[in-house]
Amino acid sequence: MIKAANAASVGLVPTMGALHEGHMSLVKRAVAENDLVVASVFVNPTQFNDKDDLARYPRTPEADIEMLQDAGCNIVFMPDVEEMYPEEDTRVFDFGALGNVMEGRFRPGHFNGVAQIVSKLSYAVEPDNAYFGEKDFQQVAIIKAMVKQLDLKVRIIPCPIVREKSGLAKSSRNMLLTDTQREKAVLISKTLAASVAMAASKPVNEVHDWVVGQFASDPEFKIDYYDIVDGDSLQSVSDWNDSDYIVGCIAVYCGKIRLIDNIHYKG
Ligand code: PAJ
Repeated sequence: MIKAANAASVGLVPTMGALHEGHMSLVKRAVAENDLVVASVFVNPTQFNDKDDLARYPRTPEADIEMLQDAGCNIVFMPDVEEMYPEEDTRVFDFGALGNVMEGRFRPGHFNGVAQIVSKLSYAVEPDNAYFGEKDFQQVAIIKAMVKQLDLKVRIIPCPIVREKSGLAKSSRNMLLTDTQREKAVLISKTLAASVAMAASKPVNEVHDWVVGQFASDPEFKIDYYDIVDGDSLQSVSDWNDSDYIVGCIAVYCGKIRLIDNIHYKG
C-alpha cells in the first residue's frame, strides 16, 4: 500500500513507544537513508511473557508523535491490538540455537512474539530497510533469521547502542527506575566497560565470573544471565580465540525492572 506512494525507498522503524534518543537514532538514520520513513509505535502483547511487565510498560503516545514528527518521520503507525491481531496469531517460529539462549531461555515465547509483530509490520509496510538497535543484540539476530525464513525483501540495519551520559543504556524501562536505582544501574555499563580491559589479560571464564561477581553484594540486583558469545551464532565461547566476533550480553534485574546491555569484546 505504501509502495503505491511511489517512494523510491521505504524505511521502517518498529518501536513500542516511550521514545528516547536510542529510538530516535534509528529514526534519524532511517530519515537520512530513505525517501519515506514509517515508524510504528505498538506495545506488542504477544512478546510479553510477564503480564506485570506488559501492564507497567510506559506509554507516552503524544510525546512519541511529536518526537517522530520533529525528526522528519513521514508516517507514524500506532495501531491498536485488534488491528494487528484481529485473530490470534498461531504461527510458531523456530530459530533453533539462536532462540534458545539468553533472552530465549529466560523469556520463553518472547522472540516468537517479536517475529510475529515484525513480520506483520513488514508485510504491511513492505520496507526496503528496517532499523533495529544493537541494545537488543539477540533480537537483531532473530529478526535477520526471520527475514531469511520468510524470504522478506528487507535489509536489516543494526544501529549502535545509545547511552546516557552515565553510561546506562537508554531504555524505555529506565523511567520505571527510582532515582537511587537509576544511579545503581550505572554499575551495569561500568562493569561491562571495565571487563573489556580485563579481557586483554584474563581468560573468558575469569572475566565472566568477575562481571557476575560485581552484582553479588547488592540485593537490588539479580542477574538472569551474563553470556560471552559468538556474535553471529550467539553460542557461548570458552576462549577469546574461539571467534573474531565476541560479545558479552547481560540481563539483570534492578529491583523489579529488568535491564539488558551488551559489549563488544572482539569485532
Ligand atoms: P523497543 O524496545 O521500543 O525498541 C525499538 C527499537 O529501538 C529496537 O530496535 C531497539 O533495539 C532500539 N533501541 C532501544 N533502545 C536503544 C538504545 N539505547 N540504543 C539503540 N537502539 C535502541 O525492541 C522493541 O521495541 C520491540 O521488540 C519491537 C522490535 C518494536 C517489536 O515489538
